[in-house]
Amino acid sequence: MAETVSRPLLDLYPNRGLVFTRGEGVQLYTRDGTPYLDLMTNYGVSILGHGHPAMLRAIAEQSERLVTLHGSFGNEVRTRAAVALLERLGMGSASICWTNSGAEAIEAALKFAAVAMGRTGFVACEGGYHGKTLGAQVVTHGARYREGLPALLSNCRWAPFGDPEAIDAAIGVDTAAVVIEPIQGEGGIVVPPDGFLQATAEVCRRRGVVLIVDEIQTGCGRTGAFTASGEAGIVPDILCLGKGLAGGIPVGATVVSAAVATRVPRGAHTSTFGGNPLAAAGVLAVLDAVNEEMLTKVRERGARFREGLVAVTRDFGLEVRGRGLMIGVVVGDGRDQILKTLQRERVLAIPAGKDVVRFLPPYIVDDGDLGLAAGALGAAVSAAGAKADQSP
Ligand SMILES: Cc1ncc(COP(=O)(O)O)c(C=O)c1O
Repeated sequence: MAETVSRPLLDLYPNRGLVFTRGEGVQLYTRDGTPYLDLMTNYGVSILGHGHPAMLRAIAEQSERLVTLHGSFGNEVRTRAAVALLERLGMGSASICWTNSGAEAIEAALKFAAVAMGRTGFVACEGGYHGKTLGAQVVTHGARYREGLPALLSNCRWAPFGDPEAIDAAIGVDTAAVVIEPIQGEGGIVVPPDGFLQATAEVCRRRGVVLIVDEIQTGCGRTGAFTASGEAGIVPDILCLGKGLAGGIPVGATVVSAAVATRVPRGAHTSTFGGNPLAAAGVLAVLDAVNEEMLTKVRERGARFREGLVAVTRDFGLEVRGRGLMIGVVVGDGRDQILKTLQRERVLAIPAGKDVVRFLPPYIVDDGDLGLAAGALGAAVSAAGAKADQSP
């Protein structure tokens, strides 16, 4: 190639204008040591904060023993992580396919459902997000995720989120599976009506199609229960986890019920990195740390944070929604400006949907930091409102 490559990284992400070199607890630090309160945790990944001692110990010890090993060999840590996760999920008769990301966990789930059913169609929800690999994108809603891309694969019917009757109506003779999130994260922290998960599980059972529950964002304690589907008392045919499952080491899990697993042929999905012992050690450390005591903290601190956010935005009547430490504030058109103001105040949050400021704090955050963030959001909303008032 004659041209000089001007940038080493392909330009795929928005640029937030900050460079971080270090993380500790709830803070990220720039090169010059300026701390930022990390209430976005890499979109929900660093659930135990940065440099959690138990995580560091688990990774250090495992990296000295063995980092990588193909799935065609046995490894005690990999098996122990699978057994412990299944036990935690109350899905003892299920089996796990370890992957390396959320999208890959969905990719495997779609493939397993299709191969088990001998069908290639899916039903998913409007506003849903399941990742950006080719397969996962089939069930990810929204034109903005397809902008400029050719329609390579597609066989999905859409139903409004929270409407089990519409899901029922969308199921056709070619439907292999219904794919849902318990709370839509990327879609805008959208909480469905009570009973949605149970009613959808019943529809899938009655219509004889596979139910895939995507808990990549809601899972691993984010909503104050280890999984939202477990809290709702349903057992999906396939459950997908990712993000914080190994505390920051890349991992995904496609948890497959025995009924589906028996119809999945060997080799249907494999990956050289899948289930590597380093990630497995991370999973074991997370399962240990995210205990009942920590889940109680997630619920209580989340509830107080939501109250704080309601209080500081009361004059503007903004909607604050979510569960546990998965929280969205519907701020309207000024959302991106509000995120910038928060960042200037050294509080990191992320967008969701069209008009939502999303907070996914680490579970180790305390009320003091959450209070500070609520205050910063109130001030940012006021500033945005004041600016709007001055416009002609
Ligand atoms: C619900 C849900 N599913 C799937 C994904 C994709 O995960 P990943 O970015 O690890 O591929 C995400 C990521 O935000 C998600 O929130």
